[in-house]
Amino acid sequence: MASQSTQKKTACVVGGTGFVASLLIKLLLHNGYAVHATVRDPENQKKISPLIALQELGELKIFRADLTDEASFDAPISRSDIVFHVATPVNFSSDDPETDMIKPAIQGVVNVLKACTKTKTVKRVILTSSAAAVSINAQNVTGLVMDEKNWTDVESLSSEKPPTWGYAASKTLAERAACKFAQENNIDLITVIPSLMSGPSLTPDIPSSVALAATLITGNDFLLNGLKGMQMLSGSISIAHVEDVCRAHIFLAEKESASGRYICCAVNTSVPELAKFLNKRFPEYKVPTDFGDFPSEAKLILSSEKLISEGFCFKYGFEDIYDQTVEYLKTKGMLK
Ligand SMILES: NC(=O)c1ccc[n+]([C@@H]2O[C@H](COP(=O)([O-])OP(=O)(O)OC[C@H]3O[C@@H](n4cnc5c(N)ncnc54)[C@H](OP(=O)(O)O)[C@@H]3O)[C@@H](O)[C@H]2O)c1
Repeated sequence: MASQSTQKKTACVVGGTGFVASLLIKLLLHNGYAVHATVRDPENQKKISPLIALQELGELKIFRADLTDEASFDAPISRSDIVFHVATPVNFSSDDPETDMIKPAIQGVVNVLKACTKTKTVKRVILTSSAAAVSINAQNVTGLVMDEKNWTDVESLSSEKPPTWGYAASKTLAERAACKFAQENNIDLITVIPSLMSGPSLTPDIPSSVALAATLITGNDFLLNGLKGMQMLSGSISIAHVEDVCRAHIFLAEKESASGRYICCAVNTSVPELAKFLNKRFPEYKVPTDFGDFPSEAKLILSSEKLISEGFCFKYGFEDIYDQTVEYLKTKGMLK
């Protein structure tokens, strides 16, 4: 029998079909973990096909679980050492964000954490939050540096209801609910707070965040309005490579001294600055650079100082993120 120290650690990844989770699972398998991945519908061959392909890399079991079904997490979490709660309900076009995003996101974190309390094996839980839970505030100034002490102002979001407010509210309230439950139940919880992510994806469809990050290159006017809206609501266009965010999840799971929240963001910019950068780097796509009186600078930056001072090194910068995104979109036939 293998000794305790040579036994594989088991990681449960909640929401295995997603952009972030599928890459996280790949990295965990590479790093020698056994993985329990939860999916909503194991019969959906298209969605689970990347996971089936990953089974060649190591021990990967697929379980059915839904954030709204508490008991469905007992089996995948039982005997896990680490739980990565990555899933979140996303429906940007919802007429009822309270029902479609906010309630299930909060219910989901509580259900997953309750399952963690039922087994003695779980040492740490890593929750994927979002920059949308940090930076949204009504301050009308520039030069703000946002760190882990900052929380999005849900009260003003819920009263003013700007476009996509429900997603930001759901991420903030779910992270707060998770922190409260973890404190009350003595769970070692770490939250990772990624900015917008881009880079290659294992998922069959192009992730919406990659499409958003690349909209200045692909020329999609609807998404360009979304990107401008993101700068106006969040205060910046802040970006990270998806692989760095997954690496940060594993780094924080393994770093004993880690605790609390960690922002993970490689680049802080604005729509006009991003356009200038892309126009120069990819002249063939003729990225527009005139945005009239749209704010040329971001009002804030998201600081990853806490993550870096813990010892984490970003692998990908601005150029790498977009070089790899462009190559990925070429393989998907979205760019020539
Ligand atoms: N992508 C970004 O730029 C970005 C930025 C900041 C933070 N984040 C956070 O990172 C995490 C992953 O994002 P992503 O881009 O990978 O999202 P994604 O590709 O849309 O994946 C979302 C996942 O959540 C699952 N899910 C949704 N509702 C569920 C429910 N009721 N029960 C169980 N699973 C459910 C989905 O399962 P199905 O396949 O069954 O739909 C899917 O696997 C999320 O927490 C997101 O808020 C993402």
